[in-house]
Amino acid sequence: MKHVPVLLKEVIDGLSLKENSVVIDATLGLGGHTRAILESVTGARVIGFDRDARNLELAKEELKDVADRIEFVEDSFSGIETHVKEPVDAAFFDIGFSSLHVDDPERGFSFMHDGPLDMRYDQSQELTAEVIVNGWTRDELARIFRKLGEESYAAPIAKAIFVARKKGRITRTSELAEIISNAVRRSGKQHPATKVFQALRIAVNDELGEVEKGLEAAVKVLKPGGVLAVISFHSLEDRIVKNFIKNREDLEATTKRPIKPGLEEIKSNPRARSAKLRIAVKKV
Ligand SMILES: C[S@@+](CC[C@H](N)C(=O)[O-])C[C@H]1O[C@@H](n2cnc3c(N)ncnc32)[C@H](O)[C@@H]1O
Repeated sequence: MKHVPVLLKEVIDGLSLKENSVVIDATLGLGGHTRAILESVTGARVIGFDRDARNLELAKEELKDVADRIEFVEDSFSGIETHVKEPVDAAFFDIGFSSLHVDDPERGFSFMHDGPLDMRYDQSQELTAEVIVNGWTRDELARIFRKLGEESYAAPIAKAIFVARKKGRITRTSELAEIISNAVRRSGKQHPATKVFQALRIAVNDELGEVEKGLEAAVKVLKPGGVLAVISFHSLEDRIVKNFIKNREDLEATTKRPIKPGLEEIKSNPRARSAKLRIAVKKV
C-alpha cells in the first residue's frame, strides 16, 4: 500500500512558507509532505532526513523529478545539527513508522504478518526486537511494556515471555503475538499484542529519546520567525512535543490544541486517526 501523507493541507498552511524557503523534512518517508512543500512556493528547498536506508532510496525514486531541490540525508533527525549548516525557515517532523514498514513482514513491525522480530528503522544498528525479547530481564520487559506501551497486563505478558523463552529463542513476530494472546484474555477491537509491539518498536529505535534530541536540534537551526511543525501518533510522543514547546522560552505555540484530522481524512486513511499536529514559531 502506498503511504498517504497525513494532515497535508494543515501542515502546508501551518508552515506558512515564503518563496525560496529552506525546510527540514526530518522524516522523509516516501516524500509526500516534501513534494507538497516544494509545490507550495517557488524556489523552496528541502533537507530531507530518513534513518531507514531503504525508505530513503524509495524517496529518491519517488522524488526524482524534483531531486535537484532536495538534499537527501541518511541519518536520524537527532543528527540534524551535523548536517544542516544554514539557518532554516521551517522544520517538519512526521514521527514514527510508515505503511512501508508495517506492510513488509520482513521488517518485523507487524503482528498481523509473520516475520523476524526485527523492528529496526536503521538496519545497521545491533539492537533488534529479538535481542530485547530474548535478552532483557523480566522486570525490564514489564517496565517497557508499561511505560512505552501503556500496557496494563505488562507483568503477566513479561512472565509469559520469560517462561516461553526458556524453551527456546523467540524469533518470529507470530510466535510473540501468540504468546501474548495466550497470556491475556482481552476483548475489544484491538489485537492483544498491539501495545507490546508498540513498546518494542519505541525501545528498539529509542523513539522518545530521538524526538527530544531532534526537536532540540531543529530549534537550534531555525531562523527567528521560523516554524516548527510536528505530527505525532501516540500520547507519549505528543506529551514530549507539547511540553517541549511549552517549556522553551524561544518558542510560541500557534496551535493551543493539537490539530487532528477530520472524519473524511480518517475514513480514507485510517492510519491518520491518532495523528496530532502541533505548530510553534521561534520568537524573533
Ligand atoms: C510517518 S513516515 C513519514 C512519511 C512522510 N511524511 C511521507 O509523506 O511520506 C516516518 C519516516 O521517518 C523515518 N524515521 C523514523 N524515525 C526517524 C528518526 N529518528 N530520524 C529520521 N527518520 C526517522 C521512518 O523510517 C519513516 O520513513
